[in-house]
Amino acid sequence: MSNVAIIGAQWGDEGKGKVVDLFTDEADIVVRFQGGNNAGHTLVVNGDKTILHLVPSGALHPDKLCVIGNGVVVDPEILIEEIQTLKRRGHLVDDEQLRISEQAHVIMPYHKAIDLARERLRGKGKIGTTGRGIGPAYEDKVARTGIRFVDLLEEDTFREKLQRNIEEKNIYLKAILKEKTLDFDKIHVSYGRYREKLRKFVTNTGLLLDQEMRAGKRVLFEGAQGTLLDVDHGTYPYVTSSSTVTGGACSGSGVGPQHIQQVIGISKAYTTRVGSGPFPTELNGPDGETLRREGAEFGATTGRSRRCGWFDAVGVRHAVRMNGMTGIALTKLDVLTGFKKIPICTAYRYGSKDLHEFPASSKVMHGAQPVYEELAGWEVPLDDARNFSDLPVAAQKYVRRIEEVVGTKIILVSVGPGREQTILLKNPFES
Ligand code: IMP
Repeated sequence: MSNVAIIGAQWGDEGKGKVVDLFTDEADIVVRFQGGNNAGHTLVVNGDKTILHLVPSGALHPDKLCVIGNGVVVDPEILIEEIQTLKRRGHLVDDEQLRISEQAHVIMPYHKAIDLARERLRGKGKIGTTGRGIGPAYEDKVARTGIRFVDLLEEDTFREKLQRNIEEKNIYLKAILKEKTLDFDKIHVSYGRYREKLRKFVTNTGLLLDQEMRAGKRVLFEGAQGTLLDVDHGTYPYVTSSSTVTGGACSGSGVGPQHIQQVIGISKAYTTRVGSGPFPTELNGPDGETLRREGAEFGATTGRSRRCGWFDAVGVRHAVRMNGMTGIALTKLDVLTGFKKIPICTAYRYGSKDLHEFPASSKVMHGAQPVYEELAGWEVPLDDARNFSDLPVAAQKYVRRIEEVVGTKIILVSVGPGREQTILLKNPFES
């Protein structure tokens, strides 16, 4: 019996939602441990599409406990909207199904205002953030000025912290960012309403998880974004502001590392990225357009069109090592149907050197040229494949070659958005 972490192996949007939803059948509890509503997981169940930003994907299964861990930054307005939408659709009937960590930090209106203003001022050098206030909320957490749910629940603590923060943020907004200031009373009233709506969900989730695991419950840790967007191990500074890697699952949910036995990396059969930052295998011509069209590569959160390129084994190999991935779920293989040749990037060329490891230098990453090996493509659609042997030989070879170049087994291949469009090679919960 294992607990499993599901981690993005690329720059996010790898199709984690579908894989988490599939494996949720095997788990009792699903935990989000980092990020906020910058994430967007698209779930298609019986043709019905649901996009979740904050509530863990387990919400669609009535018997699963969903936990928003201490490492998440929560925009309460968005969370309330999401809870209401889920309830309208007949999910989350029992409020006990959702628990929010009392230590999770709350995204405030000044976080969003600062995020948006800074991006505007950065102009061409912008990070391309989702504009949801994620970075500024994590900044306050680390600066020890953040407001946690436990603080929000205590009216006097909240008032005091908000007063102090508003004073400081308004000076920054006005003098440095040349923005309008924010009104204390308005925020105080609206967050007072949020407090009362969310109070019943807030608890000590680290303790709860410990109790549940001791009782033999199985946990799925649901990562958001991806390893290459990790604040330490990604393409800094073009990253998100949290630890998206397996280590983040421990600190972001308050459990020890011995509780995570399997780490499944999610990777597309090609690569996408939203926002700015280096992307060595990016395709700016017709092949990139084809990937975008066939893969419907538009962001679930911001609707932005995703940048598309060939599979980058240097990045995924880095993710496998960094996270201790025990297997990869390869998604969207069906999208590659129709390409005569399919390149895989196995190294980066920088100057006269071939780099086999992911470089830390932003300058090197920006100048890195992909070194490709070409594999044969296939013509037949893969949508109906349910066993590995149903795949055309060229597609099988493509999958096997990816295993070799990234250094771990592929345990699942996804050939379409539906739950049934899945080839399961190994169940991580049975390891
Ligand atoms: P932030 O997380 O909004 O601060 O944005 C920082 C970077 O991470 C930007 O390049 C975003 O496009 C990217 N990003 C944030 N969340 C996601 C996600 O869920 N999928 C893909 N990219 C993301």
